[in-house]
Amino acid sequence: MTYPFIKAWIPSFDNKRSMDIDVSALKPGEQKIVHWLGRNVLLLKRESASIENLPVSTDSLKDPLSDQSVQPELARNPYRSLRPELFVTFTNCTHLGCEVVPKDQQFKCPCHQSDYDGAGRVLEGAAAPRNLDIPNYRYLSNQLIRLEQLDS
Ligand code: FES
Repeated sequence: MTYPFIKAWIPSFDNKRSMDIDVSALKPGEQKIVHWLGRNVLLLKRESASIENLPVSTDSLKDPLSDQSVQPELARNPYRSLRPELFVTFTNCTHLGCEVVPKDQQFKCPCHQSDYDGAGRVLEGAAAPRNLDIPNYRYLSNQLIRLEQLDS
């Protein structure tokens, strides 16, 4: 009889090694945030202007080629994503871990004002030392993403 009460006090840990996310409802400019492995993951449907700008707007970036980034191989391109139209990123600022805020297809950290572009690449002058971390994922279909933890 006391089990339901006790169960309510047990913290729930989101430790699944994989998570499937339906992105079919996202329209350009819209985003979705899920909680996975104790962190928030943001999925942003990019607008076409953002997709066109990312490969060419690299002048003010701290690490344009993401050499210092924590990311899987799938993100080693100017979009830092498997497909240019969908950006998938952890939302923790790489300075001290605050949650970045998306704004106009870019990201800003409210704690010490680090700015990131639409691929989560940190801008010069920011306190953050590297680009936003990218989770490992793959497409199960055109509308379904699977986040998957890599074996370390
Ligand atoms: S935690 Fe983001 S800039 Fe300091």
